[in-house]
Amino acid sequence: MIILGIDTSCDDTSVAVAGDARLLSNVVSSQVPVHRLFGGVVPEIASRKHAELIDAVYGEALSQAGVTLKDVDVLAVTQGPGLIGSVLVGLCFVKGLALATGKRLVGVNHVEAHAMSVLIEREVEFPFIALIVSGGHTVLLYFEEACRFRVIGTTRDDAAGEAFDKAAKYLSLGYPGGSIIEGLARGGRADAIAFPRPMADERNYDFSYSGLKTAFINYVKKNGITDDDRCDILASFQEAAFDLLALKTLRACRDMGIKRLVVGGGVAANGRLREMLTERCGAQGVSVFFPLAALCTDNAAMVAVTAWFYARKGLFSALDARAFSRMALRVEGC
Ligand code: KG4
Ligand code: ZN
Repeated sequence: MIILGIDTSCDDTSVAVAGDARLLSNVVSSQVPVHRLFGGVVPEIASRKHAELIDAVYGEALSQAGVTLKDVDVLAVTQGPGLIGSVLVGLCFVKGLALATGKRLVGVNHVEAHAMSVLIEREVEFPFIALIVSGGHTVLLYFEEACRFRVIGTTRDDAAGEAFDKAAKYLSLGYPGGSIIEGLARGGRADAIAFPRPMADERNYDFSYSGLKTAFINYVKKNGITDDDRCDILASFQEAAFDLLALKTLRACRDMGIKRLVVGGGVAANGRLREMLTERCGAQGVSVFFPLAALCTDNAAMVAVTAWFYARKGLFSALDARAFSRMALRVEGC
């Protein structure tokens, strides 16, 4: 079964082709250089860029995979959550292909796809918990089996990646901030400043990052920041952000008796987060699985692989499938 997947949920235009569970191509055209000028993603510019790029990225993905549209069995696309104008570009493009060819369509949840991205490279047995940490989402999902998941925790305000981006923007370090902060934090002491871990003591699996971001900005306003202490301040900020992630995630694994954790989303590319989770999961007897760093950030390979599970179960979407901007904030107790 050959699947063509498309993701245009935020600022990357991506098309991938997968043959069964094997990846044949994954083309990602990043808009970062455009949005960098504004210190963050400008939704209107993002959707216009997707419309400009999608046809060329689609052609390149087919060509790199060595297939034509005729060879494709199933069309897959991110339906949401994401920037609505951006999501619509991919969705309308795929609907056009489906209408013209009569091929079946799978509308994919972008956050679920982040959770499936680790399965591009390896198998992970169900059930597992998935921690998705990106610029738009900080979510804990419980996967009973493929295509069956529920939200068990989510951020009450900002996403973790958003806090990194805003902290970096405040210091004029550049965009996106996560990898820049990771690089600087490498040279710092993570215990130099005791930044808060909001909601750490609450008996739920939710997160909050707006308070940490404000604590960071207030600290810098009050104490200033110099070349000498920049790395310490950033390492302490990063440590607080990840400590909260690890704490809530491992609490969920323990409470639910789950022994497998998969991680995804742009922030999952961070070496310190990988190290911390590996260490703490090891101590709790939980196996942790990370995707390749290149598959942590937005890509269409994860959309194609997610659709493969749906198609195998005969679960297809109607041609009037609608775009959605937000993940349902349903949080079920466990
Ligand atoms: O998954 P993604 O590409 O897009 C969303 O769905 O949001 O994630 C982008 C986010 C940005 O906030 C970026 O700063 C963050 O992932 N990020 C990182 C790292 N690389 C990307 N955060 C921390 N450390 C990194 N190495
Ligand atoms: Zn994403």
